[in-house]
Amino acid sequence: LNNKPLLSSESPALKFEIFAKCSTTKARASLMHLPHFTAQTPMFMPVGTMGTMKGLTPEQLVDLDCHVILGNTYHLGSHPGQEIMEKAGGLHKFMGWNRGLLTDSGGFQMVSLLKLANITEEGVEFENPYNGEKMLLTPEESISLQNTIGADIIMQLDDVVSSLVSGPRVKEAMERSIRWLDRCIVANKNKTTQNLFPIVQGGLDVELRKTSASELSKRESPGYAIGGLSGGESKDEFWRMVDISTDILPENKPRYCMGVGYSEDLVVCSALGVDMYDCVFPTRTARFGNALVVEGSMVLKSGKYAKDHRPIDSECGCMTCTKFSRSFLHNLIITKETVGCHLISIHNIAFQMRLMREIKLAIMEDRYPEYVRSFMSRRFGNKV
Ligand code: GUN
Ligand code: ZN
Repeated sequence: LNNKPLLSSESPALKFEIFAKCSTTKARASLMHLPHFTAQTPMFMPVGTMGTMKGLTPEQLVDLDCHVILGNTYHLGSHPGQEIMEKAGGLHKFMGWNRGLLTDSGGFQMVSLLKLANITEEGVEFENPYNGEKMLLTPEESISLQNTIGADIIMQLDDVVSSLVSGPRVKEAMERSIRWLDRCIVANKNKTTQNLFPIVQGGLDVELRKTSASELSKRESPGYAIGGLSGGESKDEFWRMVDISTDILPENKPRYCMGVGYSEDLVVCSALGVDMYDCVFPTRTARFGNALVVEGSMVLKSGKYAKDHRPIDSECGCMTCTKFSRSFLHNLIITKETVGCHLISIHNIAFQMRLMREIKLAIMEDRYPEYVRSFMSRRFGNKV
């Protein structure tokens, strides 16, 4: 990637350079220069959870070649809280991560985690799970928290409805998300060091998606996200909404599809011109003892692995596959040893990273359609 870019954009805190474009799909490979790191795209961003039992340590994430990880405003806003984060000098320092960091705005987590969330024009009203107090997350409050956290990329507060909802609520949420975006843009105190991404909404409605994408495009943001998807709709509808959105969003800016992490979606959405993804799926499924393999999931608690002394994947170079067998992992899962979850998480993140490397290379060598075909036959042609 050292020739002149085919397309580029430059914002105060983000330079985006597209170095390769597929000749038959919308896929592209690029460099995204962020304040803390230069990331290669298409990329998958794992959710970093400050080295707790659920996730991996920053050191392990570096070893796995992660360029950007996600932190959560919702969790960090209540624990440890803004004051401690301020004193720590931001999340990069607090968690010991010096590469790219992205924070979500918190509203989506609130609505999806807490059934009691109530949305008004002011913001998202919810009950603090730690003390039962009523709290209000406004666009201004979310941006203030995200400014304190100091991530390279911050997200607007959006009004998200499940992709299974239809009717006037979908339009209301899409329009409110644009009003909230404008409040977020005004509230952002760190325009030259933090990149605020708007989020396309509009449910599964073609016209609403188009309106949202073209309204957001007028804001000249450093990058754009596509939200409100991967919530139980059909693949066909999901991919169509992504396709419509990337047709309208500026071609020379990064595009981020939120909450997407199934391998077939990463492969298809990259063909539709998406550059960034995040999902808790690889680490969440690891906690249930499931290892990601090209054919799908390997359910390691199954008795059929008790005496299987092969690694999860003999072609995977991760620490887990280099050192441990399916049999050993099976026994850790069965005895509820937490290290089992860690080892499978390491493999699952390595799996996502390898997939993204393959996608990137295929785009750069202009053989992406061929790669998609070969991936799909491996993914759906065999059973684990
Ligand atoms: N994570 C997954 N989907 C979404 C979305 O639509 N909005 C936000 N803020 N976060 C998400
Ligand atoms: Zn592995």
